[in-house]
Amino acid sequence: MKDRVRTGVPGMDELLNGGIPRRNIVLLSGGPGTGKSIFGQQFLYYGLTQGEAGVFVALEEHPVAVRINMAHFGWDVRRYEQEGKFAIVDAFTGGIGEAAKREKYVVRDPDDIPSLLDVLKEAIKDVGAERVVVDSVSTLYLTKPSVARAVVMQLKRVVSGLGCTAIFVSQVSAGERGFGGPGVEHAVDGIIRLDLDEINGELYRSLIVWKMRGTKHSMKRHPFEITDKGIIVYPNKVFKVTRRGVEISEIGEGEE
Ligand SMILES: Nc1ncnc2c1ncn2[C@@H]1O[C@H](COP(=O)(O)OP(=O)(O)O)[C@@H](O)[C@H]1O
Ligand SMILES: [Mg+2]
Repeated sequence: MKDRVRTGVPGMDELLNGGIPRRNIVLLSGGPGTGKSIFGQQFLYYGLTQGEAGVFVALEEHPVAVRINMAHFGWDVRRYEQEGKFAIVDAFTGGIGEAAKREKYVVRDPDDIPSLLDVLKEAIKDVGAERVVVDSVSTLYLTKPSVARAVVMQLKRVVSGLGCTAIFVSQVSAGERGFGGPGVEHAVDGIIRLDLDEINGELYRSLIVWKMRGTKHSMKRHPFEITDKGIIVYPNKVFKVTRRGVEISEIGEGEE
């Protein structure tokens, strides 16, 4: 088995020296609209195209909305759900509503962490998942920050115990530094931070790999784009904010 899990996000695996080290739990941190959900969904869909099953834990959006959003990028997961290669854990509806009745993996009370873990385990085992995305872990402790670390550690134990490589989406406020709180930041194996900055009246996207156990990685901030096909990262471009504004430079020959 390969020791790297390719994200499949164009340009991203170059920053990670080939991909996320297998079984790493990566915190994908960023403010609203920075592309966290799209990144997570792209990671899962790429896995499906490579024959790697996946599970998406929906805590922020209705599972129906997740499928529709993914379809906008040409990522039709219904087929993989029917084949038993992909599952959405519905930790959003609490089982309420007509559409929720059609969901196979429903967490009745998303505030009840043990029941969430049980449903997640079942989904991972059923589809034989190698990739897991939790969108977002922040939802699980927004009202009780003191339990953040414990919640993330429990999730991590389940996910990596079953041999999966995972992305935990972490929400931070626009303009906030950090990645979601000390308990969480230290509990994970990797941190990728997505940013959206307003500079001279324009929004710019960039990302940085802050931490990734088990590999060397780019130490620079790189620009990225969101397109109709998903996220594209520019591994050969560096994003800097100077006094004059944004400076995007090409990395020269031989530089890393
Ligand atoms: N087809 C598209 N082309 C370009 N940008 C898009 C497209 N679809 C969505 N976006 C951008 O992606 C953003 C939402 O990304 P999302 O992953 O949902 O953010 P987050 O989960 O970090 O809040 C939108 O605000 C928009 O800027
Ligand atoms: Mg989101």
